[in-house]
Amino acid sequence: MSAVVPRLGVNIDHVATLRQARGEDYPSIVDAAQVSLLNGADQITIHLREDRRHIQDYDVEAVKLVTKRFGKPLNLEMGVNPEIIEIAIASAPEWICIVPEKREEKTTEGGLDLLDDSNFIRIEEAVKKIKSSLKDVKISLFLEAKMETLERAKDLDIDAVEIHTGEFAKVFANGDDVSKYLDHFRVAKEFLNNHKIAAHAGHGLTDESVKPLLESKLFEEYNIGHWIICHALFHGLAHSVKTLKVSFENYPLK
Ligand code: PXP
Repeated sequence: MSAVVPRLGVNIDHVATLRQARGEDYPSIVDAAQVSLLNGADQITIHLREDRRHIQDYDVEAVKLVTKRFGKPLNLEMGVNPEIIEIAIASAPEWICIVPEKREEKTTEGGLDLLDDSNFIRIEEAVKKIKSSLKDVKISLFLEAKMETLERAKDLDIDAVEIHTGEFAKVFANGDDVSKYLDHFRVAKEFLNNHKIAAHAGHGLTDESVKPLLESKLFEEYNIGHWIICHALFHGLAHSVKTLKVSFENYPLK
């Protein structure tokens, strides 16, 4: 039996950040998707934010054409804004990851708040709308590894939870003890798997901070963006994706 390697989703938002900074049509998001897929990415992840600070509406279609050609999934991250939901439905990505969104934030700051009833209902309605419009779409929710939140998530028609690893990654980068986070992640993963929900992870991860997660065989998919694009500035995107994927192959799940 061949080894099951965790999947690497390459988030290419920051290629668009660079492009938007000058209003040019380079660097190309299409090339970024293609180079990532040629060098081991298992999916391409993009976040169409309400403020369109990086990914634009036309990027969604353009990247979808590339992922389709490679036979790999497009994972579209988005808030539950009705306009964005319509764009998502029209572009029919294989995966949609629902995230919280605040205009003033630098990046997604944490998982969705499912404990707030009105927020829970908005997310529940978005999930229903997306699932009833797109037959084969899979949905993940970006959540903290907190049991009260996961308890509510299990009642929704979702396929995966992407656990927020941002705080873990910061503590790791400071050289502090991360065992508390690894314990929470393990409990979360077991709970999710017991409810037939896949456990993914993402946010703030680097080639180093992802290692303890890979070693602990915690997640079946990781979505990594900012570190890859920053590393690529000095080493090239092909090299950055390829070396990261090789490290994934050193830690098969089975
Ligand atoms: N996963 C989710 C849900 C995100 O919102 C982001 C950031 O867009 C990422 C993963 C990637 O995070 P980073 O760019 O810090 O690797």
